[in-house]
Amino acid sequence: MDTDEAIRVRVPAKINLTLGVGPREDDGYHQLATVFQAISVHDELTARAAPDGVTELVTHGPQADLVPAGPDNLVWQAADLLRNEILPASRRDLGVRIDVTKAIPVAGGMAGGSADAAAALLACSVLWDLDLDPTELRELSAGLGADVPFALTGGTAVGTGRGDRVVPALTRGTYHWVLVFSETGVSTPAAFARHDELRPDPPEPSIPPELMAALGTGRAADLAPHLYNDLAEATCSMRPDVAEVLGLADQVGALTAILCGSGPTVAFLVADENAAVDAHLQLRAELGAEVGMRRVHGPVPGARLVSS
Ligand code: C5P
Repeated sequence: MDTDEAIRVRVPAKINLTLGVGPREDDGYHQLATVFQAISVHDELTARAAPDGVTELVTHGPQADLVPAGPDNLVWQAADLLRNEILPASRRDLGVRIDVTKAIPVAGGMAGGSADAAAALLACSVLWDLDLDPTELRELSAGLGADVPFALTGGTAVGTGRGDRVVPALTRGTYHWVLVFSETGVSTPAAFARHDELRPDPPEPSIPPELMAALGTGRAADLAPHLYNDLAEATCSMRPDVAEVLGLADQVGALTAILCGSGPTVAFLVADENAAVDAHLQLRAELGAEVGMRRVHGPVPGARLVSS
């Protein structure tokens, strides 16, 4: 191992094109039927050798202070998992310093923490010359969080089980979105708990075939009627401000708007790049300059090494 080597990984955020939530299992997790799409908001992570089996983590970016910098961070847990379960005992003195530059909103419903965990697994496995194939990495990743396997896969994919059983989906074209962020995050466990109160006896969730057929056409207008999120009612009941943003789709010329995961980020689907510019301007006029917004597209690839 080259001791000066820096391994850089870029990893995307996700949105859920559909998110069906089923019964709560005994372990507290819910059965999900979801279609993920990886979109062009990326965190970047760099891993370098550090002495004596230590893990060091430094986060950068405007929201860096909102992220735990110790063992509570999934990045830290990803490094420890590889060190303790994959590295042979004779090499467990290998340390790592990880820098994470965050652009994915924290607690935004876009799986930023899971994305960073996926990036850390990839970066550390390369830094430490671990001979893991993509399937082994994905299997390990599911132990860190339900959204981590998708962050490795990227593109568009169907997620079942806890959302951790991921199968890539065949889709056409590129979709354009305008994201509206919120300063205040939503706790994912709180959104699921509220959902349980509102829907105490849900059926087993399934993926609507119409959605998969629409993804085959590559046309945003075909996809729009099939976007759906079971957690929207729960999150909107706790966050009326999010409900108001979701209600703006028609007014700003978007095809529809959907909550990202458990929110509070809202994604507006638009017909093309020009429509994204228009919707962005109109959302700015409606919501004001201080609200965070961004035009993005998807699908994009999952966690990838980038050359320094
Ligand atoms: O797996 P992850 O740590 O990302 O999940 C965060 C929380 O979201 C879980 O602790 C659980 O409360 C909720 N969750 C769930 N069912 C899922 C995925 C997540 O209830 N399938």
